[in-house]
This record gives sequence, structure tokens and C-alpha cells, in this order.
Amino acid sequence: MNTKNKILALLESNRSKSISGEFIAGQLGVSRNAVWKAINELKKDGYKIKAVTNKGYLLCDDNDILSVQGMLPFLTEKSISKQIFVHDVLESTNKTAKEMAVSGAEHGTVITANHQTTGKGRYGRAFYSPPDSGIYMSFILHPAELYFNTPTLITAFAAVSVCEAIEAVSSLTPRIKWVNDVFIDSKKICGILTEAITDFESGNTQWAVVGIGINFNTSDFPEDLQETAGALFGEKTPVTRNRLCAELINRIINPENHSEKEMLGKYKQRMYMLGKRVTVTGISETYEAVALDVDETGRLVVRKADGEQLSLSAGEISVKV
Ligand code: BTN
Repeated sequence: MNTKNKILALLESNRSKSISGEFIAGQLGVSRNAVWKAINELKKDGYKIKAVTNKGYLLCDDNDILSVQGMLPFLTEKSISKQIFVHDVLESTNKTAKEMAVSGAEHGTVITANHQTTGKGRYGRAFYSPPDSGIYMSFILHPAELYFNTPTLITAFAAVSVCEAIEAVSSLTPRIKWVNDVFIDSKKICGILTEAITDFESGNTQWAVVGIGINFNTSDFPEDLQETAGALFGEKTPVTRNRLCAELINRIINPENHSEKEMLGKYKQRMYMLGKRVTVTGISETYEAVALDVDETGRLVVRKADGEQLSLSAGEISVKV
């Protein structure tokens, strides 16, 4: 870490408190002048830093620039910070993550961007990814390193992690729409796109890239999304994006040891469509059914009007409540 980033880490871990130039210089073993220069560089980067007479420097509460240093105070396992890559702009964090996975990136590598120019959704759709207001993150996961054995449950695991992270920082009640959308009230606030590379011979998943897009305090949605999309918070947010990113990383990279069954239980508990009538749109037909359950591999079990029971895999169908 260079001096500027070390100072940022100090300011982020002492948010809203003043720390003197002398203290910073002493901690980092640099001159007061070097501190002053680095503070000016941070201000140029957009950080709002107040210089308080006789007290020192203070990082104002409303700074919300994504950075590893901003996530660090909230990471349960600090060493994970080495595997987090923060970009201002990328085409798509999933695209970069896949390139990194192919080049041998390790399990638990996290790629995040402040803005995506071509954010990807499921079924080849675009994911609206404006700057400064969303969370766009991709995780490189090697299934062998996860606490559960069924690769098809990775998306469910990610959805539960998103809900738990939101619950940890707010009083909101997120709900999951099978398979991978997270809703607050009746608006979609998060989408998840899991892409996997499978070994052709064995059929085993070698790695998965789990891309998570959260409308944090996104506004001005394009017209076609206005009906369905919403944001977690309004303009003033109770926490920073860095905090929510860290809460997500804690749950996805460093989860407490649950059983697969327990995780599925948490998933079903947050699903709002079980027991409800749904419209299933497959490749060749559309039909009405009742959503009954999610099976142990993450498939949605539905009962058609004629009593036939089917287990639906994600990717083949879309379901409307
Ligand atoms: C969907 O709702 O259809 C899934 C949306 C997934 C969006 C995320 S944002 C981070 C990652 N990078 C992408 O290009 N897509 C995913």
C-alpha cells in the first residue's frame, strides 16, 4: 500500500473522528509534509476531508467512494483484502472475473466496479449499472472450497448472503424470487448472474463466477425498468456501499460453517412465492402452476393444474408470480 492508501485506511477506520497529521506521520513513519500531500491527493480523488484546527483531519460521513480501505474495517478476515480488486469502471465485473479465473485467480477473488458500461443480466439482458449508486461485484468461487457440495446451489447461497448482508446493516426485509432476484416490497433491488466453467469430461464445475448487482441508492431508472426496479435506500443512506460490500464478502468468502440443508432452509424462508400461483414460461409453452417447494438441488417444484408435478431448473424457464 502506498502512503496515500495507508492514510485512506487510517481515515476510513476512524470515520467522522479527527486524527492529527502528527499521529498519521508517526504511524506511517513519513513526514508531516508527505501527509499533507497525500491528503490533497485524496481530496482530488473526490474524498471530502475536513482539516479541523488543532485536531487534524476528518473523513466526512457522506464519503461513499468504493475502496478496499473503506471495506477493511468491516471485513471479519482482514487478509481477504488482498484478493479484492476495486475498479472505477469496467465493461462487466463478470467479464473481468472470468478472464481472471481462466488465468488462474484463486478462490475468493472479488472484483468490484463503481460503474459498468455493459453490465450483463440473465438471458443476455443488460443490467443497468450507473456510477456512484450501485454495487457491482463478482466473486470467483471454486466449488471444492465451499461448505456445500451441490454446485447448482451457488446462486441460492449468493441470494441468501445478499439478504443476510442487507439485514445486517438495515431494518429492511428482503425477499427472494426464485431463483436469483432479491426484492424489497414489490421492487427488484438485486440480480445475480452465476456463470460456470465445467470440465467437459467429468461434468464437474471447475469454477463459478457469481455476479451480484445491487441498486444501492440508484435513481432515474430507464423507463422500461421504472415499474419493476427499486433501490435499497434513498439519496441519504444509513451505511456506505463499502460496508455492504464487506458484509457480502464476509458471508460469501468467509461464511460460518452451515450445512447445505440449513442454507436451503434460509433460502426458502425468504422466498415469497411458495404456495402461490405462478406463470411458468418455458421454451415451448407457458402454463399456470402452484409453486410448492425448492428441492435439494435448487430446482423449483411446481404443480400444474392437471396435478402433474414438475421440478424446474433455472435457465430453462422464467417464472412470474
Ligand atoms: C439479472 O438480474 O438478470 C442478473 C444481474 C446480474 C448483474 C451483476 S452486476 C455484477 C455482475 N457483472 C455483470 O455484468 N453482471 C453481474
